[in-house]
Amino acid sequence: MKTVQTINELQNILYSNKGKTIGLVPTMGYLHEGHLALLNKAREENDIVVSSIFVNPAQFGPNEDLDRYPRDIEHDTELATKAGVDFLFVPSATEMYPFESGITIHVGELSTKLCGESRPGHFDGVLKVITKLFHLVQPTKAYFGQKDAQQLAIIETFVNAYNFPVQIERVSTVREADGLAKSSRNVFLSVKERSEAIHLFKGLTVATETWKETKDINEALNRGKSYIEQNTSGKIDYFEALSYPNLQPEFNHAEQILFATAVFFENARLIDNIIVDVKEV
Ligand code: PAF
Repeated sequence: MKTVQTINELQNILYSNKGKTIGLVPTMGYLHEGHLALLNKAREENDIVVSSIFVNPAQFGPNEDLDRYPRDIEHDTELATKAGVDFLFVPSATEMYPFESGITIHVGELSTKLCGESRPGHFDGVLKVITKLFHLVQPTKAYFGQKDAQQLAIIETFVNAYNFPVQIERVSTVREADGLAKSSRNVFLSVKERSEAIHLFKGLTVATETWKETKDINEALNRGKSYIEQNTSGKIDYFEALSYPNLQPEFNHAEQILFATAVFFENARLIDNIIVDVKEV
């Protein structure tokens, strides 16, 4: 595996690999098994695998955890090598954003709900870096985890709406043995919070099972939300159901329904979700 720090070098390498299929796995590093699932799928499906590690300042708000975001480039390099990554792109912030163009990508309605509501500008920043990475790498396929379901919905919609020549691959959430979704932010949980954090997935399961039995969204949300309130010391940011991937509170024609939650603990805000295939219920 080769680590590449500059756009110039990356483009020279990709130029000399013209004609090969490229799988791109964009990450912010501190890799865990969730990322490995993306890398493994990319490895199976492409001639070349490019992964990026870039803690993207554009997607962090002024009071968010940019400086605190966990980083471990040595361990990441080891894991990426084992996963069969060919090129690990690790640019600096000035390499990615050498000047301020004043031109922005604005997500609009899809970013006004779920995580977007408490993280204004976050998804604009995600699309800023994703657009650059897609243009730089020109991947055949790009891989994203279902854990960040709103991010995935926005990227899928963006790519369709603006005809980016890339196929977006959705990869299921990887969980710890007890059900907690793997996340780089789990390291910020205290021992007590870690034991409580499994109840996000359990609360979501209560909601989806209730919906399957009753087809009553409000009842499903109430039961799931109370379950989390009773079993954790965290503060619920949201617990919602929306059609997927258009993220509307309108379920009559929905093929998939996203049940999603975000919970604030002392030093970490955790998210999780379950997507229900309506036809299979
Ligand atoms: O999901 C993430 O880690 C980031 O939002 C992404 C897609 C790598 C963009 O910075």
